[in-house]
Amino acid sequence: MLIVVKSGGTIIEKRLPDDVILDIKKTLTSNSIIFVHGGGVEVTKIASKLGKEQKFIVSPNGFRSRYTDKETAKIYTMVMTGKLNKQIILALQSHGIPAIGISGLDGSLLKAERKKRLIIIDKRGRKRIINGGYTGKIHDVNTKLLNLLIDSGYVPVLAPVAISEEFEPLNVDGDRTAAYVAGYVKADKLILLTDVEGLMLNGELVPKLTAKEAKEQLHKIGHGMITKIYAAIEALNMGVREVIITSGFIKQPISSSITHKRGTVISNE
Ligand SMILES: Nc1ncnc2c1ncn2[C@@H]1O[C@H](COP(=O)(O)OP(=O)(O)O)[C@@H](O)[C@H]1O
Ligand SMILES: [Mg+2]
Repeated sequence: MLIVVKSGGTIIEKRLPDDVILDIKKTLTSNSIIFVHGGGVEVTKIASKLGKEQKFIVSPNGFRSRYTDKETAKIYTMVMTGKLNKQIILALQSHGIPAIGISGLDGSLLKAERKKRLIIIDKRGRKRIINGGYTGKIHDVNTKLLNLLIDSGYVPVLAPVAISEEFEPLNVDGDRTAAYVAGYVKADKLILLTDVEGLMLNGELVPKLTAKEAKEQLHKIGHGMITKIYAAIEALNMGVREVIITSGFIKQPISSSITHKRGTVISNE
């Protein structure tokens, strides 16, 4: 099987947990893995040290995102493709996993269209249109490059930075990057590792639901998780068979989700 695994920022914050690394190694004995990472918390921390306080905006759909002006785009690229990406590939290689760190800029791996304008909900709950800054929507993935790496036995580790039509770096959401990559490479599964056990509804963990059921529950889901549910629906629409949202802080987070022992499984039916 071909599996895309995305790890959220809180999991990779200090160091990718050994349980994640060991499980990647185990899973690789009979599968291929493409790893995508987030890292928003670290970007905010470093930006603040550089004297650039970060602003966050909320869209009418309930997405919370970083407002990425030109200076923030530079810091975002530096932290994601430099600090975090290299930290992860070193940790993987220390366990004998042949990891290649790569961003969406390299070989135009992730092509995106810059959002010229954004609709946001301001503090008073009113809709406003603002300049889009440097965020983008992915419209192409260089699957040839990814297949080249996978076929040679490497684990590509992708930083969520895409290249614009004007050759600028764009901030792209990690969950949705993972969804697009999984869709384009026709992955069998997309696994989103986060800091909670899965989707919680009415105070309980949901072990399984369909994309249709997920859509009906969107209004009950908060920031962070709602992006994952959208990403899951997008991945399923692009032909990925199953998306699992699970904790990256447990033992065997990947194998236990493949066997449906942990997490929330989302599928078309
Ligand atoms: N219905 C929900 N079920 C589970 N988590 C939720 C829900 N609504 C909001 N969340 C929040 O989503 C967070 C996960 O998203 P996020 O913080 O962006 O993590 P990551 O870094 O993995 O992307 C959880 O820590 C939780 O606080
Ligand atoms: Mg997130």
